[in-house]
Amino acid sequence: MSTQLAHHRPQWKTHIGFLLAAIGSAIGLGNIWRFPYLCYKNGGGAFLVPYFIALVVVGVPLMILEIGLGHKMRGSAPASYAAVSKNWEWTGWWQIIFVMFGIVLYYSVVISWCLNFFFYSFNISWGADPNSFFFKNFLMLSSSPFQIGNVRAPILLALTIVWTLNWLIVFLGVEKGLERANKFFMPLLFILIAVLVFWSLRLSGAAEGLRVYLRPDFSKLKEAGVWIDAFSQIFFTLSLGFGIMIAYASYLPRKTEIVKDSITISLTNCLFSIFAGCGVFAVLGYMAQATAQPIGEVVSQSIGLAFVAFPKAISLLPAFSRIFGILFFGSLVIAGLSSSISIIEAFTSGIVDKFHYSRKPVVSILCISGFFGSIIFATQGGLFWLDIADHFLTQYGLVVAAIMECIIVGWIYRSKKLREHINHTSTFGLSALWDNLVKIVIPIVLVILLVNSLINEFAVPYENYPVLSLIVIGRDWLIFTLFLALIVSARAWKIEPSQREQH
Ligand code: ALA
Repeated sequence: MSTQLAHHRPQWKTHIGFLLAAIGSAIGLGNIWRFPYLCYKNGGGAFLVPYFIALVVVGVPLMILEIGLGHKMRGSAPASYAAVSKNWEWTGWWQIIFVMFGIVLYYSVVISWCLNFFFYSFNISWGADPNSFFFKNFLMLSSSPFQIGNVRAPILLALTIVWTLNWLIVFLGVEKGLERANKFFMPLLFILIAVLVFWSLRLSGAAEGLRVYLRPDFSKLKEAGVWIDAFSQIFFTLSLGFGIMIAYASYLPRKTEIVKDSITISLTNCLFSIFAGCGVFAVLGYMAQATAQPIGEVVSQSIGLAFVAFPKAISLLPAFSRIFGILFFGSLVIAGLSSSISIIEAFTSGIVDKFHYSRKPVVSILCISGFFGSIIFATQGGLFWLDIADHFLTQYGLVVAAIMECIIVGWIYRSKKLREHINHTSTFGLSALWDNLVKIVIPIVLVILLVNSLINEFAVPYENYPVLSLIVIGRDWLIFTLFLALIVSARAWKIEPSQREQH
């Protein structure tokens, strides 16, 4: 590779700094907000079976692929694919565009809800009826995605804070911004979650909650939907298909333990989810006992687990309920921020690689547009938009992006070549089994899941939303970002990507 590229590329200052940043990206709202409700919806502990299968068969091998590719090509997702073949550069753009101008827009709004609830915890503002507080007073939810209504002022205010923090951290750069922030965020998050989980486990009724959480209802495994949820959660939770890990790995030094790091990041993330889930279910168990209801009755809305069931449980706590609320919502804000900054970095690095613009204006323009783009999700119809966009971008966008990654690396670049690079830089080696996973097993599994998702999609409209809203907010979002990706990839590179490869 050219010395010019090597010279200018930022680097992680420490190896632990990289690990914490990658773990910070992986551990996010998805672990505390999405995982427990998916688990709950899909038969409690039974969900852990497809979840772990997805982790081993798809999650870890793809993590190795993304980190290995970013390290080998020393570039963002579009730069790395373009280094393999210019024909596939659009895939990298598409993935970072729909994540930056899609996922992170609503993700920041959920962080903003958490920030609001962090402040509401100081005086338990949700009162005796958190359900109507969340949907009626806080979101002022309209009756359909087409009734956008007004922008909710408290959400907008929190959104301004969230985007300012996003901007500040990414603006400061890889070492001074992302690395430093994660070195502070991650240990703090681990401590907060440990305190919350051990606190929850001591509540009466916690054991019943854990029983529901961990006792598998294997009959659920016959449902295709459970498997689809497990696999799409693995992408979401490990930040795979986002282009993040490729960009993060491009800032690593030459000698790196790619396999060991990939396993550490993936396992830490998934164990964290399960650990946090224990706390969530212990609290639900407590609430079920305190209100003399079965656990099934205490959670009504899936998305409302964190914002309805939890606030209710917090109000019922025998002591220090405000502190519990502050710690819980504070943890969500930290987990969310460490992921949203990684998404912005993945996009920034793509633009800087291709056009050689200076980083600071890019980050500033990006965060201002991100803020404005998020506003639609902060309206009275925002929850519907969020739900539809999340469904399509994660269940189709991330899965298709991962299939493309397998094709580009497995067949076009040749996984054997990347495996040799990985084995050359690490002490912990990969066998040819990985090639087969990348070239054959993962694409087949993902195509099956995709076809199944599509069949479900045509059978019943997702959550019975009006079909037009699914087309406009879901499908067209993916198509529009694809169109943008094709335009950007047609532009010329400042330095040809073929010069990127590291030997
Ligand atoms: N990996 C991030 C999460 O789980 C996006 O929230």
